[in-house]
Amino acid sequence: MAGQKKTAAPGNPLREERDKRLPRIAGPCSMVIFGVTGDLSRKKLMPAIYDLANRGLLPPGFALVGFARRDYADEDFAQVVLQAVKEHARTPFRQEVWDQLAEGIRFVQGTFDDDAAFGTLAQTLKKLDAERGTGGNHAFYLSIPPNAFPVVLEQLSRTGLAKASDAAPGKPQSWRRVVIEKPFGHDLESAQELNALVNRVFPEETVFRIDHYLGKETVQNLLALRFANELFEPIWNANFVDHVQITMAEDIGLGGRAGYYDGIGAARDVIQNHLLQLLALTAMEDPVNFQPRQLQIEKIKVLSATKLVEPLEETTARGQYAAGWQGSERVVGLLEEEGFDPHSRTETYAAITLNVDTRRWAGVPFYLRTGKRLGRRVTEIAVMFKRAPHLPFDQTMTEELGQNALVIRVQPDEGITMRFGSKVPGSSMEVRDVNMDFSYGESFTESSPEAYERLILDVLLGEPSLFPVNEEVELAWRILDPVLDHWAEGGKPESYESGTWGPASADEMLARTGREWRRP
Ligand code: BG6
Repeated sequence: MAGQKKTAAPGNPLREERDKRLPRIAGPCSMVIFGVTGDLSRKKLMPAIYDLANRGLLPPGFALVGFARRDYADEDFAQVVLQAVKEHARTPFRQEVWDQLAEGIRFVQGTFDDDAAFGTLAQTLKKLDAERGTGGNHAFYLSIPPNAFPVVLEQLSRTGLAKASDAAPGKPQSWRRVVIEKPFGHDLESAQELNALVNRVFPEETVFRIDHYLGKETVQNLLALRFANELFEPIWNANFVDHVQITMAEDIGLGGRAGYYDGIGAARDVIQNHLLQLLALTAMEDPVNFQPRQLQIEKIKVLSATKLVEPLEETTARGQYAAGWQGSERVVGLLEEEGFDPHSRTETYAAITLNVDTRRWAGVPFYLRTGKRLGRRVTEIAVMFKRAPHLPFDQTMTEELGQNALVIRVQPDEGITMRFGSKVPGSSMEVRDVNMDFSYGESFTESSPEAYERLILDVLLGEPSLFPVNEEVELAWRILDPVLDHWAEGGKPESYESGTWGPASADEMLARTGREWRRP
């Protein structure tokens, strides 16, 4: 391929070294989506596939196969995809890209327990191999409720679809992969059962678990910030860091999501996955190299060392949003949202305190919080530094001086802020906090791909770095389970007014240690 360098790696004359800056294009393949009529598929998956095609990252013969109950012909389904693309794609619509993609769109109608429909699916994929040259390479995306996993996995196994056929002479080995959306269980035990079930059909190296936060540019940039620079490493430890705050705040409510969310709650929904992954990337040691296995090793190590701080009644907080104002809009509380049990105890806000018991982090609390209907949508990692041990100023001069902070703004307004004290211009010595800012929008001309673009492409390339392995998933449940048990024994979550920053108990949780939450 043009621009690729072929150099003989020492001891391995056949290994091809490629320039890692060049775009990677998926080889011949198809993606089959189960649950293709759902929200995720419409808003994220189908648009991301179009965006990849538009960026020239899909092979010409790529095929997209939808599997669902609706009675669609291929053309009807193509219209559904087209609508989703027009409404939600990131990149501009180009007719010639769409026409090429549309040629490879197929639909298989059926329910998950319908053996005949899976037979049709197998035939459809065989035909695609012949007609579009998909080469026997197929990824199965399970965008379905967890209770449907066993039957779909069983069907994929029974029909032989889960297994790649052996390489024919002169042809490359084909592949089969499975993509799984969270929730990966609802506690450690159910996660272990799910992992065992999945691994009975798909070997671990063919399983891609989506944690879409890992597909975000700003999250990957954490690795660049930490491991490509010399500036931060010397201070990235308990000698200098006072504590870390990881916040994922959302202003949206849960209208329309009762089926998934009621009984699940904020901790299972995002702390178990997104926020613990952010913690892992913030706290882990540097990997030996950028091979997927090396990243996994470091994340597993740090998650194994991550422990809840006790007693949980003081170090955790939970809440449920009540009615209030979101900007100028009057919004209802969770209990009035359609579909929710009017006595629901589901938390929409959760905060926990963790320690990472390693030499680097001993004694540094990591505070994780998330909530719906909070003041504003923001996800950030704030590394809060200790105060200077001695200030040679009068107290009045530094009254407005806070702690130094390094804040990674995951979204929106993606970037990094460094906060430190600076002299206020004038004849007196007054020191106040100022911000030094890096913003993606100003430093780069390219807009960031959507997380799902990156992750779907990685699935098709068989690149597993950004997908948590089952050990990480199980470790995350091991960390969280005691909190969930503790809350299950307690009464109702405390209510907080929509549009505020969560329940009073969350502020008290930090105040007990003389700290306070940032108000981003
Ligand atoms: C999902 C959660 O994983 O992430 C949702 O299930 C949440 O509850 C969403 O709203 C937030 O994603 P993002 O990318 O908008 O921060």
